[in-house]
Amino acid sequence: MASSRFVPFVDLSQQHRPLHLDLMAAITSVAERGDYILGKSVVEFEQAFANYCGVHYGVGVGSGTDALTLGLQACGVGPGDQVILPVNTFVATLIGVLQVGATPVFVDCDLETGLIDLAAAERAITSRTRAIIPVHLYGQMVSPQALTSLADTHNVIIFEDAAQAHGAEREGVKAGSVGLASAFSFYPSKNLGAMGDGGMVVTQQDVISQTVRSLRNYGSTRKYYHTDPGGTNSRLDTLQAAVLQIKLSHLNAWNCDRNRLAQRYDEALKPLAGFGLLPMVNHSGRGHAYHLYVIRLTSDCPIDRTRLQQELAACDIQSGIHYPVPCHLQPAFQNLDYQVGDFPVAEQLSQEILSLPMYPGMTDEQLEYVVEIIMAVAENCPVLI
Ligand SMILES: Cc1ncc(COP(=O)(O)O)c(C=O)c1O
Repeated sequence: MASSRFVPFVDLSQQHRPLHLDLMAAITSVAERGDYILGKSVVEFEQAFANYCGVHYGVGVGSGTDALTLGLQACGVGPGDQVILPVNTFVATLIGVLQVGATPVFVDCDLETGLIDLAAAERAITSRTRAIIPVHLYGQMVSPQALTSLADTHNVIIFEDAAQAHGAEREGVKAGSVGLASAFSFYPSKNLGAMGDGGMVVTQQDVISQTVRSLRNYGSTRKYYHTDPGGTNSRLDTLQAAVLQIKLSHLNAWNCDRNRLAQRYDEALKPLAGFGLLPMVNHSGRGHAYHLYVIRLTSDCPIDRTRLQQELAACDIQSGIHYPVPCHLQPAFQNLDYQVGDFPVAEQLSQEILSLPMYPGMTDEQLEYVVEIIMAVAENCPVLI
């Protein structure tokens, strides 16, 4: 195997180092103003990010999970409602549904993209279905046209989980602009990440934005007058908003770099396609935001995933699995009464997928090193390429 050159899964210093002075100046100006809670930077960043998504309103909250919860609540989703969501999502999508007291209805996903299977979603619709949550997994949007047609036909709300898809686009439509409302996360490693937790609900509807504004602030829009019983304390921090404001102007360039890296991975890994090692399929061209670059070691592939991860780790290359256990098999949610075998595609994918290092600023040399190690592992497998 090649000599060791560390390749982290994500390296935020590549983003932050060139912006260091701007970031420090932004943080200092918040400290000088002292408007730590719902300050000027929050107001400015909310508007800037809403504009970026092509919608009217943005309301900054404490995390992506809270954006899901408060956003769904503001859309009127609650007890008695069924909400359709893909089973192969990060658990926060499910937590959002459970926190508003609605009933989650899982559906399976597409094998090639990992995105929600909309035919399965359509079959799952009942008279109690209130909303569908498309998760723009790995940075690729669920088809806006197909989604809108499904939602219009069955009169259900679309609520986008766009936590992994800042700046993603498909069919000329931007992530965050398809649904009645959408949730974003600014967790540090996201395409647009803060230096801590943060999230936002974006929407075209004034009334929804006003409700989230109230819910995030103890159910009140006027100090010490509380009108919304479901209120909590979940505000985007002013310091985080100041950081995000600086970073937003670089998001398109970073997403371009992610696309460049994805194309290089696609090219370099092509010789392994006949060997059953396939990248997840991109149906959105450069509109894919490549939050993650995910490959599949299909049932035809003789490479053992655990062994590959171990070989990569031995060569100082980090990798990940997003996600190893679909939501319906998580111990915490056994009360939902799903079983092994209920979602065969998601279950299969959870055994096959592997996320390779991907972040703006990753060098060609690093990428070639990752591919070199994968090739070396493949060459040592019983079936030759
Ligand atoms: C698809 C998805 N939904 C929701 C979340 C929750 O976001 P947060 O971690 O900011 O609560 C995340 C990220 O962590 C995510 O990847």
